[in-house]
Amino acid sequence: MTLPRLGLIVAVAALLATAVCMVAKPFGKARAQESATPKSPFDFQVYRNRVEPIFLKKRGDHARCYACHSQNESTFHLQRLMPGQTSWTEEQSRLNFASVLRLVAPGDPSASRLLLHPLAPESGGESYHSGGRQFETQNDPDWRTIAEWVRTAKPGS
Ligand code: HEC
Repeated sequence: MTLPRLGLIVAVAALLATAVCMVAKPFGKARAQESATPKSPFDFQVYRNRVEPIFLKKRGDHARCYACHSQNESTFHLQRLMPGQTSWTEEQSRLNFASVLRLVAPGDPSASRLLLHPLAPESGGESYHSGGRQFETQNDPDWRTIAEWVRTAKPGS
């Protein structure tokens, strides 16, 4: 092979490599965006409309989840409301959601700490919650709302 010929081959190869990079780039970008908004098996809208209000609600004699969990350092961490507001902004709800996701197992209420920790031990709950027996039984309507949200989350979706 003569030298000028080799030079041509190298030049063509370099061009091809550049072309491949240009084509590959947009794909790389799309993938990066996808991972920036990870898909969750849990439905955020159902969480926001039905589950989250329970954390703010005064339920019987119990202190509200919000009263402690916006102050303490537990894994279950709720954002503080903006002054004068009675509910969270969407951005705050997303942060609350991220915290709650660490305490639930998709499709399985019986493996979800969010449901077990505040539930009375005789009803299948954990032995101690310093916030008390927030749910006496699994028939508590609020407990059932949260359990339904967990149950309908499909693992791996
Ligand atoms: C009086 C304060 C108080 C209230 C009210 C309260 N909690 Fe708690 N909760 C705590 C504290 C303190 C901890 C951490 C120590 C412990 O595990 O008991 C905790 C822990 C938890 C945990 C375990 C988090 C982890 O780290 O694994 C969950 C889940 C939880 N609470 C859910 C709730 C829910 C749901 C409500 C409302 C229905 C609620 N709590 C109301 C004080 C409270």
